[in-house]
Amino acid sequence: MCGIVGYLGPQDPKNIIVEGLKKLEYRGYDSAGVAILNDGKTKRVRAEGKLKNLEEKLAGEKFNGHLGIGHTRWATHGAAVERNAHPHQVGEISIVHNGIIENYLEIKQELLSRGADISSDTDSELVAHLINEEIKKTQNLLQAVQTTLSKLIGAFSVVVMWEKSPDELVAFKDGPPLIVGLNADKNEYFVVSDVQAALQHTKDYVYLEDREVVHIQNKDVKYYSALGAPLKKQVVTLDWNPEQIEKMGFKHFMLKEIYEQPRAVAMAIQPHIDTDKHEVNLKNLGFDKPVDEVFKSIERIIFVACGTSFYAGNVAQYLIEQVSGIPVQVDIASEFRYRKPIIPKNTLVITISQSGETADTLAAIRMAKEKGALTLSITNVQRSSIDREAHGHLYMNSGVEVGVASTKAFTSTLALANLLALQIAKARGTLSRAQEQEYVKSLLAIPSQIEVVLAFDKYFSEASKKLQDFKGFLYLGRGVSYPIALEGALKLKELAYMHAEGYAAGEMKHGPLALIDARMAIVVVAPTDELIEKTISNLQEAKARGGKIISIGTDENPSLKSMSEYYLSIPATSWMTSPLLSVVPLQLMAYHLADSLGYDVDQPRNLAKSVTVE
Ligand code: F6R
Repeated sequence: MCGIVGYLGPQDPKNIIVEGLKKLEYRGYDSAGVAILNDGKTKRVRAEGKLKNLEEKLAGEKFNGHLGIGHTRWATHGAAVERNAHPHQVGEISIVHNGIIENYLEIKQELLSRGADISSDTDSELVAHLINEEIKKTQNLLQAVQTTLSKLIGAFSVVVMWEKSPDELVAFKDGPPLIVGLNADKNEYFVVSDVQAALQHTKDYVYLEDREVVHIQNKDVKYYSALGAPLKKQVVTLDWNPEQIEKMGFKHFMLKEIYEQPRAVAMAIQPHIDTDKHEVNLKNLGFDKPVDEVFKSIERIIFVACGTSFYAGNVAQYLIEQVSGIPVQVDIASEFRYRKPIIPKNTLVITISQSGETADTLAAIRMAKEKGALTLSITNVQRSSIDREAHGHLYMNSGVEVGVASTKAFTSTLALANLLALQIAKARGTLSRAQEQEYVKSLLAIPSQIEVVLAFDKYFSEASKKLQDFKGFLYLGRGVSYPIALEGALKLKELAYMHAEGYAAGEMKHGPLALIDARMAIVVVAPTDELIEKTISNLQEAKARGGKIISIGTDENPSLKSMSEYYLSIPATSWMTSPLLSVVPLQLMAYHLADSLGYDVDQPRNLAKSVTVE
């Protein structure tokens, strides 16, 4: 969603903040800005678009001060224009904010009735107004923040500075991460949304929990609950324990990897997209012919993979067939290799494997080559066996995936499937330039939109605790959401050891409806698309038979919400990119449910990360 850096210390805040924001730019690049104290006055510089625009504006600026806050924005409330860029300043108060204030309309009405002059369309500016109102009364920043926090509902993290108090920084969160970096030797303090932004400067961090406040003043750092009770917090030194560095403060690798998805998706698409022209540019895949020539000459695609990678292939089938018109088949590698498949000439066989070592997938690609097929591998591990075997190569670029249950490699593959569909369609003349731009824009927004979903993790965690009593789970979806239902069910099975099945929603009447009773949970993946009404009808039938519904829908979908026990919301996106968002709540739900049951989330029983035997 958005990236946050706050700094208080002896170095030049401009450099520290801009360097930190560079590490966070993948979270949003609609606009960026800084507010830095300069001779006791706030100097605010903001720019629309990427961070480099802000850097250009800041090039000649000098600041005489040691306190500042900065932000890279992915727009939620209000268009991506400078007026809506952070930091927001109201009177002597400046703030940066990540997340969503759900009761912003109510707050806005109250502020307007008190004569507030609101200059942006954001929910964030309202927070600055509330704190400014309080500071005028109390001249106490901590108290002003605590009173304001009690008025906010939503998922947010906020860093606040007060022009009158050059040695003070206050921050709080309820939802999205906020971490305090401490460098005691240099009297330096950082408040960041991701430790990446401060790692260069310190290894000591305190991770704020929801509804906690940090107050940094005159070389003293204090922590409070939302109600003002002092708290003792543990400082995590990232270099004392190698596992802590690797887990970056997360309880499990899997959770860390779920949270890494915005960056992983950005890294997967970044080599293949022209971000200025919004153009797909899938060029050097290693074939001995130009990519477009390959894509023009093929008459069929067969995806071969196992497990989660197989479901990624299922999503790719919907995308490629609908955008490019080329027939696509998807096979489980262990079936494909033994059923003597027919591979017609001009077939491209694409294998998907995070590890690049899965025995059945490796055997399948070897067999496809023997039968004369052209092959393309999608792997995360470069130079792995499958990668070395293939004619052409695409990389997930997710970084190492340690958790046995695959998460970030899955979403990275879905991003690559989008690119493949668009490039194949372009090569075959079935995609207009305008359509390409539209799809690329949706894809570019995905890393920030995954951040939005992650910001609501606390709701998924709350919901999952109440799911332990169900005897089983039926995951449903239609179209591209069908493979996501299958993936959601797999995640629950392998992590929480509970019985879960994925079904095409339209199949309910053909058997599974008989399973429904009050102890059966129905998890439906139903983003707003052309099939949603049909999915809702299927749900009515299940609900009428006592089934309890947990739904994943787009924004606020009243009809879906009203029939659900739990409604988990994802931001609006194109049908092609919706699987990248809808799978995230399912990953989090399975993770939290398994964790609350006390299971080993990173290494579920009986499983291995890389299945090198058949
Ligand atoms: C499930 C999971 C597995 C793998 C499967 C294939 O969470 O991770 O189903 O997807 O074993 O592994 P790769 O992609 O390495 O071939």
